[in-house]
Amino acid sequence: MRTDILHIGAGELTYEIRNIVNVGEKLQKLGTKVYWENIGDPIAKGEQIPAWMKKVVADLVMEDATYGYCPTRGILETREFIAAETNKRGGAQIGPDDIIFFNGLGDAISKVFGFLRRTARVVVPSPSYTTHSSAEAAHAGDRPVSYRLDPNNNWYPDLDDLEKRIKYNPAVAGILIINPDNPTGAVYPEHILRGMVALARKYDLFVICDEVYQNIIYNGQKTLPLSDLIGEVPGIAMRGISKEMPWPGSRCGWIEVYNADKDPMFAKYVASVLNAKMVEVCSTTLPQKAIPALLSHPQYLPYLRERIARYERMSNIAYDALKNLDGIQVNRTNGAFYMSVVFKDGVLNDRQSLPIDNPEVRAQVEKLVGGANVAFDKRFVYYLLGATGVCVVPLSSFATELQGFRVTLLERDEERFAKIFRIIAEGITHYLNS
Ligand SMILES: Cc1ncc(COP(=O)(O)O)c(C=O)c1O
Repeated sequence: MRTDILHIGAGELTYEIRNIVNVGEKLQKLGTKVYWENIGDPIAKGEQIPAWMKKVVADLVMEDATYGYCPTRGILETREFIAAETNKRGGAQIGPDDIIFFNGLGDAISKVFGFLRRTARVVVPSPSYTTHSSAEAAHAGDRPVSYRLDPNNNWYPDLDDLEKRIKYNPAVAGILIINPDNPTGAVYPEHILRGMVALARKYDLFVICDEVYQNIIYNGQKTLPLSDLIGEVPGIAMRGISKEMPWPGSRCGWIEVYNADKDPMFAKYVASVLNAKMVEVCSTTLPQKAIPALLSHPQYLPYLRERIARYERMSNIAYDALKNLDGIQVNRTNGAFYMSVVFKDGVLNDRQSLPIDNPEVRAQVEKLVGGANVAFDKRFVYYLLGATGVCVVPLSSFATELQGFRVTLLERDEERFAKIFRIIAEGITHYLNS
């Protein structure tokens, strides 16, 4: 190429959650029975969409209007419905024009970060859901600026660390919160959230809060949405239907903007995000049409509650299976459907392995871990996959120095779920003692 065609942030785009699938599929072809515990898609894990939900969508499919474009911000009635739900809480008050629909939060995330001035940074959690940290880093063409989630304190944000990141880095213009969190499964209590918003107020920053799991909380935990806490601070909440409904294939999510009128620069920035959507015309129409009917359906809450109760059971099975093992640190998941396991400092090295019977699979795994600079936790994940078929994601691929892995709690069959965690527990012990 006579000209360098690479975007400055090209190297920052990684998504190990899907990369690991390539490895798993290769091993599957060689005869490994794979337990896919890597991706947060309830449908892929056998979630059955109830008939009433399908009926709502099927009826909409019969209406010609659902085949058309919709307004750039999204369908007005749906935005009015969502604004009314938010306003009912009594916190930030919004109108339909404070809401913009996107093709999934993935689309919202790439626009929200992509249309920030290149030198302006948003401090992201570490570990971090990769779509956020990669999009933010790619917009800046630099490594993510991150604050620590503390595995010694239920994975809550370390507020002292956050303040240091902000104070000594004048480029930081915003704080990202993910609550409940992916990949840790943490649910943040009110005082932590208030502390984060207070820092935004103190340093004149805006807040982005990803609330895609806001209604998937259990084990008696409580939290609050950003709208309840934001006060006068400019903020963006991100919400969607991928996890809660669950309908990830709809590619439908939205942002709610708080206090755009309080800061002219923030207002201009939000307008640029809207214009970016306008250039693209609009987002998917059908799921937007379905949202009010689905959320107000009498079966909706019972269905969601049944799923939440299941995730709660699985969170406890997973925690009980791993909590007493030497060499790792675990926290019980209290929201969303992920668990992050951390290997304690110094327990991993580049000589550990697990026995793999199939010589072809063994050769593949040895090839994968043989290169220079393969993270120690990636090495564990590949051996676990090759030896047992359990597919998890290395924690170091979530913008953190911590070594570990993320596993999902989505398996519906309780016996199979317990078996998977027994396999993981045995795998860890065997690997650390190899
Ligand atoms: C925290 C978080 N935000 C956003 C998303 C993406 O959601 P969507 O399907 O709306 O793009 C995910 C998906 O796993 C997620 O975990």
